Amino acid sequence: MASILKVSNLSKTYQSAGRSLTVLDDINFDIEEGSTAAIVGPSGSGKTTLLGLCAGLDRASAGEVALNSIVLNTLSEDQRATVRNRYVGFIFQNFQLLPTLTALENVMVPLELHGEKNVKQRSLELLDKVGLADRGHHYPTQLSGGEQQRISLARAFSNSPRILFADEPTGNLDAETGAKVEKLLFELNRDAGTTLVLVTHDLELAAKTQRVIRLKGGKIISDEAASKSIHTQL
Ligand SMILES: Nc1ncnc2c1ncn2[C@@H]1O[C@H](COP(=O)(O)OP(=O)(O)OP(=O)(O)O)[C@@H](O)[C@H]1O
Ligand SMILES: [Mg+2]
Repeated sequence: MASILKVSNLSKTYQSAGRSLTVLDDINFDIEEGSTAAIVGPSGSGKTTLLGLCAGLDRASAGEVALNSIVLNTLSEDQRATVRNRYVGFIFQNFQLLPTLTALENVMVPLELHGEKNVKQRSLELLDKVGLADRGHHYPTQLSGGEQQRISLARAFSNSPRILFADEPTGNLDAETGAKVEKLLFELNRDAGTTLVLVTHDLELAAKTQRVIRLKGGKIISDEAASKSIHTQL
């Protein structure tokens, strides 16, 4: 199987108050197209930073990210945005819905950028899929956390991404809503062959992916197949 994501010798250092802080240190891994993987690790270990670099939202200090064989490092901001819109879905830890747009309009944005036809119809179908067909006219502040999470999921699906990055996709949800979101994530992986890379503190969720990459202090401390016995229960 070809790799959809290849991370080589990746490092990220932030400069603040005249000091440098290395948040990711020489990270290496490949993700196979169509597979599922979880990134786990303590708070502050660099998970969100790593996901952002893999998705081309941010630029590395050293090393390389290749997404679908496109090396992101050398691309301009605009070129990275084009690659993201074409290949990537992203679910943010804090949703990041656009506050001035309704739920429906938030879902429509990636499709419009893509120049798709029937944008409204497709977006309404996606809202239906996440169980929020009747909330399309609501603004993000008029939605609960779990509803915002599901809108952000619908938005991430809308451009039919090849790879979906999800940062704590169930972190803010109650057990029942979390289970629904989880089901949707794995359904998309199975039905559309979308590669799924998720960050989670929930080890049960991590064990449902094929592979668990563990970060600590900005380094990978283990990278192994998730427990088979749990995985086959899916
Ligand atoms: N813009 C920034 N400038 C300086 N330091 C930063 C910046 N962004 C993140 N950091 C630091 O990088 C480290 C890793 O942050 P990151 O958000 O990747 O952690 P995380 O593993 O996702 O944690 P959590 O589980 O709490 O979400 C943290 O110590 C954080 O303070
Ligand atoms: Mg984080």
